[in-house]
Order: sequence, then structure tokens, then C-alpha cells
Amino acid sequence: MDQYMIKGGVPLRGEVTISGAKNSALGILAAAALCEEPVTIKNVPEIKDIEVLLRAMEEIGARVDRSSDGHTVKINAGRVSPLAVDNEYIRKIRGSYYLIGALLGRFKKAQVVLPGGCDIGPRPIDQHIKGFMQLGAVVETKHGMVMAEAEKLVGNHIYLDMASVGATINIMLAATLAEGQTIIENPAKEPHVVDVANFLNSMGANIKGTGTDVIRITGVEKLHGSTYSIIPDQIEAGTFMVAAAATGGDVVIRNVIPKHLEAITAKLIEIGVGVEEADDAVRVFSNGRRGNTRLKTLPYPGFPTDMQPQMVALLTLSEGTSVITEGIFENRFKYVDELVRMGASIRVEGNTAVIDGVQGLTGATMSASDLRAGAALVIAGLTAEGVSIVENVSYIERGYENFEKKLAGLGAVVKKVDSEDERAMRKFRLKAV
Ligand code: EPU
Repeated sequence: MDQYMIKGGVPLRGEVTISGAKNSALGILAAAALCEEPVTIKNVPEIKDIEVLLRAMEEIGARVDRSSDGHTVKINAGRVSPLAVDNEYIRKIRGSYYLIGALLGRFKKAQVVLPGGCDIGPRPIDQHIKGFMQLGAVVETKHGMVMAEAEKLVGNHIYLDMASVGATINIMLAATLAEGQTIIENPAKEPHVVDVANFLNSMGANIKGTGTDVIRITGVEKLHGSTYSIIPDQIEAGTFMVAAAATGGDVVIRNVIPKHLEAITAKLIEIGVGVEEADDAVRVFSNGRRGNTRLKTLPYPGFPTDMQPQMVALLTLSEGTSVITEGIFENRFKYVDELVRMGASIRVEGNTAVIDGVQGLTGATMSASDLRAGAALVIAGLTAEGVSIVENVSYIERGYENFEKKLAGLGAVVKKVDSEDERAMRKFRLKAV
């Protein structure tokens, strides 16, 4: 199994370019199944979750052509059929649920394996199902599959109990080709929700109000082909911002939309990190001294839950006591024990982590429990004295494109090695001394 070996203590310096947004790409690629004509999607991140979704789309008849760098994907879903979507890989990703909305919208029928995804607490899809039912579908969950079917889909007024990203996108997908108007109240406002709607509109859909408190979708009969470029990944950008701050570095992060980063930028400035914004770049610099803070993760435009572990890693080395409350998921502090083994002082009480800043961390062998937790452990490793090993990097590769290579480009001493390859591990340790 692959693992990252990291020699900590090097401030990150230089420039890094952010890839396309994972959580947009999952919605947008699935949305291509709504269209009979070919579509071209640009700025697709080359990550595992996308590979899995594209393979599942091929299995139900889509033709997928990917450019040699992987970033441009042409999808012809003309011959897609609503066969059961199930294979050992698709069960593990969350984005598979968007195929329910897309296939139901186009064929009035969908059969898709229940979604997996990172283990960060219970992740029900009752709001997705409620939305499909309110559009006229009969939805059953049997043998680990979601089966949805409708004679026709008719627009309706749907009120979400919580601002769920997945439910908002899935209902938009199902309602795009429905008869009449669908109104979603209390929708998620995340940038990737807006991005998926912009893509659907570029194919001829009529969706208004994304990013606000009410979304209005007027059903259209048919979609047409389109070329569309995915927005930059807000969380990848935030991760590099925090890594620059944690190592006391100076990094220019390119291909970002600074507006999407405001909650992260504000917190970094509050604790004494320098952040400068340009049109499509941010510069983050720190002299290594940082203060403490309190924060709670919230739906956009609040502080994103997907940045919570990285922020905790940063605050382990800040002065004083910080308090972080997880407001979205029930079990997103699993990684904390790993940081404690590096010398961090953190106690978790329910959904709150209380962090007493320490002078330094020491390298350890750690295991990534999910995607963002994995990124947080890498950040901790970059700041620590000595060598750290982060196991289970397959989690990290689900959502970060070339993570260790981008870090190495900023001067980090990090390498991906096979845990069986003792020679490579020894070589890294010798070089790292
Ligand atoms: N929820 C329900 N019922 C539902 C849907 C959601 O109770 O039907 C609850 C969830 O359990 C959670 C909250 O509502 O407590 C918010 O969940 P949401 O539906 O917004 O999350 P998601 O669609 O499952 C997406 C991202 C996550 C990201 C969250 C929140 C994808 C594929 N995943 O998940 O991304 O954390 O939104 O922003 O878009 C990641 O990238 O690392 C990741 C976990």
C-alpha cells in the first residue's frame, strides 16, 4: 500500500496551481447523462473519485474520451440506458448518488447502488428521496440499491430540512426535464451547487436563484450539447493556504476564486497569517507565530466542514486555546488521536475540539481515516520534527490531484512510497537526516 513519507520543518515557498473542483465535477459529469448530445467538460480534476464515476457511466453506455492530461473529458451519453449502476468501486464514492437524479430525470427510472464516501458520521439521503418523491417518483431502497421510478415527473415546491449539497444538486438534476416549475427552499448555496446549475443552464436548462435562499427550476423538454469549464477547487486551495501558514511559508496559490475562500481567509487573518488577494490568486505568508480562535463549521458561506481537520492541524501549533465545533457531520474528529500521538494537545467533547497550542510536533506514523483528515495529517507532518509517515493515502488521492507532487514543488520533502518497498523507505530516511 502506498504511503507518504514526510520530513517536516521546511517552510513551503513558491507557486501552486489549483485543480478543478471535485464536488462540482461529480455533479457536472453525472449531469452529462441528462443530455443526448455530446458535451465537453474542461478543468476536470484527475482524481480517483472522478475516475470511478466516469467508469460507472461507461458501464451504462456513455462514451467517455479523456484528454492525455485527464483534464478535458468528452461525454456522449446518447446511448446511456438506466441499467443498474453498481460495481465495487462506485459503492465507495458519494457522487454516485447524482446518477439517481440524472437517470431519473432523463428516463424516469434509475437504479443506483447506495452511496458510500468518507466515514465522517451517518450520511442519510432522506432529503434526496423526499425531493424525488415530491416530483412524482416512487422510491424504494432494496438490496443496497436505490430504485426510483415515475410515470412522469412534475415540478413541485420542495422544502429541504437542512441545506444539503447532495440533495440540492440531485433535485436540480431530476427537475431539469420535469414538467412545470420546481422550487427548492432552503437549498445549499455552495459554489459547486452554482457551478452544476451553470453547466445545466449551458445545456439549455432553466435554473434560477442558485447561491440564494430559493432555487427555481422551470422544466425544459430537452438539453443540447455544451462546452463547460469547472470552477477551481475551494477546498484544495484552502488546504494549500493552511499548509503555507502552518509551515511558516510564503505561497502564491493560483487558479482560485478568492470570493469562495473568504471564510478561510478571514480565519487565517484573524490568527495573524498574511493573506493577499489578486484576481485569481491568493498569497499566504506567515512568520510561524499565530494566535488562537473559535470557529464552527457551517454551510456556505460559513467555514467549510471540509477544511475543519486542516484547520485543527494548524491550530495545534498556535498560541493559546482554540475551540472548533463541527456543525455539519457527527463524527469528523477521528483523526485527532493521530495528531495527539505527534504531541498535539487536543480533547474532543462531543462535536467540539479544544486545542491547546504546543511548541512543536514530532514525526510519527499515522493513518488517514478519510480524505480531509488525510490532508490534515500531511500538514501536521510538514510542520513536525523528523520523519512522518501517512498511511492510507488512497483516501487523499480520491480528492487531491498530485498532492505530494504539488507539495514537493513548494519545497516540501515528501515522497509517495510503497510500504513494502523497504529500500525506498530507507533511502528517504537517509536523505532526510
Ligand atoms: N443530510 C441528511 N439527509 C440528507 C442529506 C444530508 O440528514 O438527505 C445531512 C448530512 O448527514 C449532513 C448534512 O445534512 O449532516 C449535510 O450533508 P450534505 O448533503 O450537504 O453533504 P453531502 O452531499 O453528503 C457534500 C460533499 C462533502 C461535503 C458536504 C458538506 C460531495 C460528493 N460531497 O456531501 O464533501 O463535506 O457536501 O459541504 O459533494 C469531501 O469533499 O471531503 C466531502 C466529504
